[in-house]
Amino acid sequence: MLLNPRILATILGCTIAILTTSFLAFLPESNANVLFVAFMASSVISGILIYFILDYLIFQEINKMYDTINRLKMKDFGVSRKKLIRINNPLKKLNDELFVYVAKKEQEVNELKRLEKFRREFLANVSHELKTPIFAAQGFVHTLLDGAMDDEDVREKFLNKAAKSLDGLDILVKDLLTLSQMETGEIKMNREPVNMRQVTKEVFDQLESKAKAKGISLIMSGLQEKILVKADSQRIGQVMTNLVENAIKYGNQDGKVLVQFEEEKKDWNVIVKDDGLGIAPEHLSRIFERFYRVDKARSRSDGSSGLGLAIVKHILQGHKTKITVASQPEKGTTFSFKLDKV
Ligand SMILES: Nc1ncnc2c1ncn2[C@@H]1O[C@H](COP(=O)(O)OP(=O)(O)OP(=O)(O)O)[C@@H](O)[C@H]1O
Ligand SMILES: [Mg+2]
Repeated sequence: MLLNPRILATILGCTIAILTTSFLAFLPESNANVLFVAFMASSVISGILIYFILDYLIFQEINKMYDTINRLKMKDFGVSRKKLIRINNPLKKLNDELFVYVAKKEQEVNELKRLEKFRREFLANVSHELKTPIFAAQGFVHTLLDGAMDDEDVREKFLNKAAKSLDGLDILVKDLLTLSQMETGEIKMNREPVNMRQVTKEVFDQLESKAKAKGISLIMSGLQEKILVKADSQRIGQVMTNLVENAIKYGNQDGKVLVQFEEEKKDWNVIVKDDGLGIAPEHLSRIFERFYRVDKARSRSDGSSGLGLAIVKHILQGHKTKITVASQPEKGTTFSFKLDKV
């Protein structure tokens, strides 16, 4: 309020007039009339001059700047005009506005930088992951064409290897496609009542041979016949497959993989637990990133793409829930997520 140019000019004008009149009062020739005229003249003239200086040179310029910022803000954030018109102390407000605006822009720039880094890394990863199976298959086929074809044993062995590489490539491309379709919203979760016990049983059946090969027992705890949740049955099956497959893959020889269901007020908490090698804390926050693997060499050699948990995360996001992980190196890992009860 004090920074209104009119009030400021009046206060300063009066101060100057009081000072001038007080000095004049010391002169022996001065009388009441002279002092009155001097007071009026100096207060009016200096008041008007100060008003013009303040208003034209400072306040109007500041208000112009302020208007520009407001226009930018309205375009950027859809702020209502009404809210912005209430100007009382333009200097203070300008300062506040500038600060908020610059902070917001800085945040946006940082976010863009982060996305750009992510995009670069993602492209590099995709190219690398695609290159590996393509080069392998290419190598086998060229060796066959260069003469190895004549040996029947070698021919079959190499063709099998080339086929295995191409199968891996097929899985990788399908996984990438699923991820990008989920991100663009092309894949919609078709939520319906699903019995998690049934889903888990099917996943166990499907992964039984893998578990057997490592002597791992697959256990489902709890007594309820039906664990009914609202979910997309196929996608939740994919989540359970990925989690149980990981638990087997990174589990101990002759270990255990346990699936538990905990009933809560509105949800079922689904828990997949193993007693395997665990994950060190520094990797925990990154395992849901695409292509992230703790032991790169080892998991690539057994045909892992590192997309499993990224897909799990996206599917669960599509169900408006999220996955959590807790792990202790050498003790085991626990993944859990909640789904709405039917
Ligand atoms: N139960 C687990 N125990 C220990 N480490 C795990 C476990 N689950 C995942 N990880 C670690 O997290 C990484 C990422 O897992 P993710 O399922 O995304 O990829 P992957 O299993 O390597 O490949 P994919 O699932 O695509 O075949 C794994 O490479 C592994 O290092
Ligand atoms: Mg996996």
